[in-house]
Amino acid sequence: MPENTHSRPRILSGMRPTGRLHLGHWVGALQNWIKLQEQYESYYFVADWHALTTHYADTSEIQDNIREMVTDWVAAGLDPKKAIFFVQSQLPEHAELHLLFSMITPLGWLERVPTYKEQIENLQGRDLHTYGFLGYPVLQAADILMYKAAYVPVGEDQVPHVELTREIARRFNHFYEPVFPEPQALLTPVPRLRGTDGRRMSKSYENSILLCDPPEEVNKKVLSMMTDPARKRRTDPGDPDKCPVFDHHKVFSPPEVIERVNRECRTAEIGCVECKKLMAQHLNRFLAPVQERRKTIEQDPKYVWDVLEEGTQKARSVAQETMREVRSAMNLIPAQGELSEVGKD
Ligand code: TRP
Ligand code: SF4
Repeated sequence: MPENTHSRPRILSGMRPTGRLHLGHWVGALQNWIKLQEQYESYYFVADWHALTTHYADTSEIQDNIREMVTDWVAAGLDPKKAIFFVQSQLPEHAELHLLFSMITPLGWLERVPTYKEQIENLQGRDLHTYGFLGYPVLQAADILMYKAAYVPVGEDQVPHVELTREIARRFNHFYEPVFPEPQALLTPVPRLRGTDGRRMSKSYENSILLCDPPEEVNKKVLSMMTDPARKRRTDPGDPDKCPVFDHHKVFSPPEVIERVNRECRTAEIGCVECKKLMAQHLNRFLAPVQERRKTIEQDPKYVWDVLEEGTQKARSVAQETMREVRSAMNLIPAQGELSEVGKD
């Protein structure tokens, strides 16, 4: 039966290598990954092929981006002794499974994925009418099913991809043999973190605070942050729920500070400058140990590559086993019995 025999359920998640991570990555993914590594057999990987689906024209920064991102993973608290880290492109098995899945995936399923049309419209200036971009979720299905992950910790936006993964698993199991369990998305409701300009925090908007921003940089960015637009003067009461500064308080400040800001903003007792300074102080307190670990990691330029190499080897043995089952289920290799006959001659 398609079940893995490990005592802890297996999870898998990936991140496209975008370089140094920002607070949105921490809130939306890392924080959760760090908790989950204690409970689950965890596979976390660098989705560098997925990055190519949109950033195929200029690949010059991929290696830097991988190193910076994985440095932030470890600096933030992901532990290579607890979880397995690997790089997608180092495992050609993912490409093989992607190709085989592409044979059984109806085009309609892919055109229906909400992120597909959205991205094509959003990322103007980039031609996304490519074969690879349409196949993005098929590649993701290969990533997930390769390891027979029970759960996939992802944000809301990725749920359609996990759904599609289940459909591909079902179709494969139906045509051939029941090789794949159907994974489930592991959603953790997360507080939203808006960027300094009030829009979604994103590298491309240049509105994000990075995990590695030094205190002076954090102070500067925080002071420039947008606040409740209705609070024009110091004496106007504000609505913290409409303010990105308050989003950050909720994540990084202790409960009594959150409670105070929530109260004193509404009565105009606290001013935005004081409120921001308070937030920056708690944020810097959170970032200090992360940056301390980053420094240590950076002292050994081989560290990240060693971690990835070790994880890739572990992932490879699982991937190779899955691919043996897949090729056998699809009759792409001679049946077991025939093989041993050949061996006897
Ligand atoms: N598409 C995911 C994202 O953009 C990244 C990803 C690729 C992924 N393969 C995956 C996530 C497999 C979870 C499982 O965030
Ligand atoms: Fe935002 Fe704080 Fe100003 Fe209220 S007091 S609007 S929470 S910055």
